[in-house]
This record gives sequence, C-alpha cells and structure tokens, in this order.
Amino acid sequence: MTVTEAIVSRHSVRKYLDKPIAEAEREQLDALTAACNAEGDLHIQMIYDDSECFPSLLAHYGMFRNAKNYIALVGKSSMPDLRGVCGYYGQRLVLAAQRMGLNTCWIGGSYKKKKTGAEIGPDEELVCIIAIGYGETQGSPRRSKPFEKLCNVPENEMPKWFRHGMMAAQLAPTAMNQQKFMITMSGDTATVTATKKNAMAEIDRGIVRCQFEAASGHTCL
Ligand SMILES: Cc1cc2nc3c(=O)[nH]c(=O)nc-3n(C[C@H](O)[C@H](O)[C@H](O)COP(=O)(O)O)c2cc1C
Repeated sequence: MTVTEAIVSRHSVRKYLDKPIAEAEREQLDALTAACNAEGDLHIQMIYDDSECFPSLLAHYGMFRNAKNYIALVGKSSMPDLRGVCGYYGQRLVLAAQRMGLNTCWIGGSYKKKKTGAEIGPDEELVCIIAIGYGETQGSPRRSKPFEKLCNVPENEMPKWFRHGMMAAQLAPTAMNQQKFMITMSGDTATVTATKKNAMAEIDRGIVRCQFEAASGHTCL
C-alpha cells in the first residue's frame, strides 16, 4: 500500500477484533516510534495489551470495543508547539500502521488519562493517545469541507503538488471532524494555520501538515 492509498483508505476505527498485534508488526511499530522520537525529540510510547485507559473497563461497551493497544503521545512540556509536533509524528505512525493493515483512532478526550500505562517524566506531558489494532471494519468515509473553505488558492491556479496536498489535508483526521484550518501557498511551500485557538486545533494542525507533506512531497510549515 502506498502512502497515498493509506491516506485515502484511513478512517477512524473504534471497534477492534479481539486479536493481539502480531510480533512482526510490533517490531516495526517500535522501530518507527524510536525514529519519530529521535527526529522529533519526543517520548512517544507504544502500549500493547492494556485496555485500562479506554472508556469502559471491559472495553466492550460504549464507542470503543476491544481497544487494547494505543500510542501515547508524550513530550516535554517546555517544547514550543508540543501539540503540533505530536500531531505531526502521531499521524506519521497512523499512516505507517494503516500500510501494515492496522486501524487507528485519535483520542483527545474520551479516555482515562490517569490510567494510561505511559511513562511520563516530571518535565513531560501526555498530549493524547491513538487507539490501534485490527479493526472489525475499515471505518467509513465522512464529509469534508471543499477546497475553497480550506485554502486560499483558487482551484484553477493550483499547481499539481498543491492539489495533491490539499486532497490529503481534506482527508486528515481532525477533532470532531471540525477541519478548522487554512492552508496558504508561498512559492514551493505551504503553510497550515489553525483557525480555532484550542489544544485540539493545535494537534489537528500537525496532523494536516504531515498528510500534506506526505502527499505533495513539499514542505508544509
Ligand atoms: C486530535 C483529535 C482528537 C480526537 N478525539 C477523539 C475522541 O476523543 N473520541 C473519538 O471517538 N474520536 C476522536 N477523534 C476522531 C475524530 O472524531 C475523527 O478523526 C473525525 O471525525 C474524522 O473522521 P475520520 O478520522 O474517519 O476521517 C479525534 C481526532 C483528532 C484528530
């Protein structure tokens, strides 16, 4: 599966099969996590076989079913734009997971923060988590805002790379599917700005940057 195929086929999945993540896939995920941590100066952790922090004790009822693994996005509290950086590297892991046949769902609010098994140093914070596992289904497509609501470049003036980036930005997960961002173009570079000022919008901005770059091959600030 190419990265573009992963971007198109990824949807949030909240119900998982009762099937542990295979050893070979754990090794790949752990190696990718280590690479993201080295590049982004983060402390992201893959937590396997631990459902404590999910909404229901049995992980059977409610929105999530059989959610037993997650990616804990942890970093230094003092890092400028910690949420944006976690969004960026978190989405890199989401796309890699999708390519490996796994499914995911970003979780900003509906989990028990105090019950996560993540190691969080005194100078660190847990930004949010991403559920990961083999989905019961592949999830479903949802509505996206049109290009004109998400960028300031008229569609007939868009270079090919920018159009590819915009298609990926439209498909990027955002908290409550709010898509509160605006993308501008300057020469060979795109810039994403959050149009709403809150913690989730900062994470969303990082996620959108990651998808835009992956699909366009151009830097997205
Ligand atoms: C930062 C962030 C936080 C989210 N928090 C939650 C959450 O707490 N609970 C939940 O069920 N989904 C959560 N989502 C998933 C979004 O609802 C979902 O990504 C959005 O509706 C778009 O759907 P899609 O991911 O299938 O494209 C979150 C997504 C993001 C990006």
